[in-house]
Amino acid sequence: MRILERLDELYAIGDRIGYSPEEQRAHDLAAGWFREAGLEVEIDDGGNLIGRIPGGERQVWTGSHLDTVPSGGRFDGALGVVAGLEAVERLGLPGLAVVVFRDEERGCAGSRARVAARELPDAFLELHIEQGPRLLDAGVPLAAVTAIVGYSRQTVTIAGRAGHAGTTPMSGRDDALCAAAERLLAIREAALAIPETVATVGTLTVQPGGVNVIPGSVSFTVDVRAPDRERLDKLLGAIGLETGVGTEPAVMDAQVVSAVRGALEELGVPVVELPSGAGHDAGILAAAGVPSGMLFVRSLNGGVSHSPDELTSEEDVALAVDALTSALRSLAS
Ligand code: GLV
Ligand code: MN
Ligand code: MN
Repeated sequence: MRILERLDELYAIGDRIGYSPEEQRAHDLAAGWFREAGLEVEIDDGGNLIGRIPGGERQVWTGSHLDTVPSGGRFDGALGVVAGLEAVERLGLPGLAVVVFRDEERGCAGSRARVAARELPDAFLELHIEQGPRLLDAGVPLAAVTAIVGYSRQTVTIAGRAGHAGTTPMSGRDDALCAAAERLLAIREAALAIPETVATVGTLTVQPGGVNVIPGSVSFTVDVRAPDRERLDKLLGAIGLETGVGTEPAVMDAQVVSAVRGALEELGVPVVELPSGAGHDAGILAAAGVPSGMLFVRSLNGGVSHSPDELTSEEDVALAVDALTSALRSLAS
């Protein structure tokens, strides 16, 4: 299957952090596919890549991103681009385009730049792997996404007092890493106490960082998510972070959701609706007023994502392209 071959080609590039030479290689590869398909190629000031069929009354975009987290999988972002191209080629309708947004993983820099430039489509539909186990548990291949979580990412720095690991008595220490460890566990407890919220400490920097030096300072990142602003702020407050900041939760557009639902009905698969716990470019466009939606395809291997074990079956990919094609057809008309 051409889609899986292309995903393999992208995966062979390795980690593709936003705006790195590796992400650029992926964009160059995709630009070649777009040209081969006869699409008109635009690279905007934010570095986003758009392949369009010129003309048309309504500009309807599909697509996703080609950057990855460190040690990511084959499907996150890339599937939406490669399968999006397939659907646009199949339909061949003027006004359709496939977009590759830059640097999604670290905070959606590309789609934010596009929003700032105010050059936006009339509708956006992003195909993505679910990145969780709900479809797998339900035994259903596809879902219409109803909303995208809100999130805030902040850095916390804890100061202590560096000193000699051998000569400073345990009782007199001000060890920044021990203080950070207590804070981390409190963050986990806070998220457990508020339904449907999550908090993750994903990076930690210990200074000065010597095997025989008591840590004098520790910085760590916290990624906090919730389905609504109220719970997001409640959790941020509970763990001592700034409230009122971050990316707002986004509700998907009723018309786009209905186009996806219609596509699922047409295919004869059960119609499931799910909120997304991951952030996506569709959320950034939705917040900017673009009628946006998402189609999820079942993740295998327990739903694991942001991991090389990320997996979706060939059959589900084929169904997802059919559903995407049908939904885009109805959005373009
Ligand atoms: C993007 O993948 C995210 O962190 O939700
Ligand atoms: Mn993604
Ligand atoms: Mn991701």
